[in-house]
Amino acid sequence: CGQKDEAATPGAASAPQAAAEEKVYVVGSDAAYAPFEYQNEKGEVVGFDVDVLNAVADKGGFKVKVVNTPWEGIFATLDQGDRDIIVSSVTITDERKQSMDFSEPYFEARQLIATGKGGEAIKSFQDLKGKKVAVQTGTTGDEVVQKLLGKTSPDIKRFESLPLAIKELENGGVQAVVGDNGVVANYVTNNPQANLRMVEDTQSFQPEFYGMAVKKGNQELLDKLNKGIQAIKADGTYDKIHAQYFGS
Ligand code: ARG
Repeated sequence: CGQKDEAATPGAASAPQAAAEEKVYVVGSDAAYAPFEYQNEKGEVVGFDVDVLNAVADKGGFKVKVVNTPWEGIFATLDQGDRDIIVSSVTITDERKQSMDFSEPYFEARQLIATGKGGEAIKSFQDLKGKKVAVQTGTTGDEVVQKLLGKTSPDIKRFESLPLAIKELENGGVQAVVGDNGVVANYVTNNPQANLRMVEDTQSFQPEFYGMAVKKGNQELLDKLNKGIQAIKADGTYDKIHAQYFGS
């Protein structure tokens, strides 16, 4: 249809409009985080976050393209201009708010402990004292474990992805993993042969809220995201996607 328009309205006026229409926002996501963001057999990034994002973009009337982006350095891509939005199960924190802007929250999460062989005595977060614990570097899981064991504790083993941290637990290198509940539960449930056990501690772990992050000051894009989030919450689209992944 672009060509037809050009023929109908010749001249410079049509060019900027066409450019605005074709703007595709590049979205960074660390796709090793099932069921929120992961790669399917074709290598496409799929998952709950991607479905929510696409629905938001649909309602907001803009286009997005999700690009698999390593967690390490993911926020720097906003300032560098390589990514317009980060949608990666990112917890909204006061510290992060200083260097980026967040949409309204779209998901509630909490930290969850997974433990395996040698971790039979672990019943609460406090019980991780004196144990080796694996986390994904720079996550809120990393932050809570730092508070318990100390920032520079040699008992904290950091990995670039949560699946790698869980592998370390399976290999017996640590006695526990602390990570986002949805992802930890998804792994433990889908890999019964690994014989892992989940330990909830709603006393020690506070609720966390996922938001979509944009470059600080990009109010225009933030407004679009928030409008879309509000729309999919209001018309039942969000609940539908939620039920598809979490059963309710
Ligand atoms: N919610 C946690 C945080 O913001 C972990 C997010 C990790 N996301 C990912 N796709 N690896 O720190």
